[in-house]
Amino acid sequence: MYRIIEKQDLTPAITLMKVDAPAIARKAQAGQFIILRLHDQAERIPLTIADYNRDEGTITIVFQIVGKSTEELATLKQGDSILNFAGPLGVPSEIEDYGTVVCIGGGCGVAPIYPITRALHQAGNRVISIVGARCVDMCFFEPEMRSVSDELHVVTDDGTKGRKGLVTDPLEDILKSGSKIDLVIAVGPVPMMSAVAKLTKTYGVKTIVSLNPIMVDGTGMCGCCRVSVGGTTKFACVDGPDFDAHQVDFEELTKRQRTYKKEEQVASEHYHQCACGKE
Ligand code: FAD
Ligand code: FES
Ligand code: MG
Repeated sequence: MYRIIEKQDLTPAITLMKVDAPAIARKAQAGQFIILRLHDQAERIPLTIADYNRDEGTITIVFQIVGKSTEELATLKQGDSILNFAGPLGVPSEIEDYGTVVCIGGGCGVAPIYPITRALHQAGNRVISIVGARCVDMCFFEPEMRSVSDELHVVTDDGTKGRKGLVTDPLEDILKSGSKIDLVIAVGPVPMMSAVAKLTKTYGVKTIVSLNPIMVDGTGMCGCCRVSVGGTTKFACVDGPDFDAHQVDFEELTKRQRTYKKEEQVASEHYHQCACGKE
């Protein structure tokens, strides 16, 4: 059992939990994820390691309520426990001194981009960060991102915080300005990562995205997380989740993410119908 030692609602729909998991904290690196299972009737859900503290032996996860499992996870309180918490999984992000990097986090993707941004900053890069959200109420981790960035741009869809627009707006300004950008790394919803990839391709700037296909085992056995990258099939859980954005088939990824929409809706309705969410 893995105890929740801290819980914080970052926004009405986004929650942070610090979980006691010393064995994972000892090995965790930026870009990796865990797979958790709330109880023995629960499904497995992958969540990025948003932070880790080797001294405390804790792993921080940040998740958005989008369906049954994340809604149920959000009902847990400080002191409660999670049955299974497996990790660290996936290949860590490649951290080196590239020169100038642009780190982009959209929506809940701001959480996973944070440890990557911090590691790139510590490695000596000049870091320009762009964080995007739907509105001011969906913004979080701004102080954290500011503390590990040389320059930070905040955008919201409705302009209630920072610049009104999409993450690609400040990105395009930066690329147009002619300043040399050595790497762009983007984490967020698939349409956002796809738009970033399209833009940086026209400027010939190397771009990495962290993919989030449906995962089950997280160890390369089930094939659920397969994605097409450069015309070949990759398993995001063991070959990724980071991939060359210009090689990713985003259309296929979008379709595959929607495979179980109907079942997910039924699970959510059923959860709401049951008094305590359990049969
Ligand atoms: P559902 O109603 O079951 O699903 C809603 C949507 O979430 C689905 O349509 C599907 O696109 C996606 N989804 C559902 N099940 C899975 C699954 N087993 N694996 C992947 N996606 C699924 N979300 C966060 O909020 N924070 C994170 O840090 C985060 N990190 C992730 C890291 C990786 C490597 C991956 C693959 C996904 C990550 N996700 C993260 C997405 C998260 O796993 C899904 O939002 C979650 O599983 C949805 O569960 P649900 O039952 O609440 O919603
Ligand atoms: Fe099963 Fe990747 S999640 S192979
Ligand atoms: Mg689900």
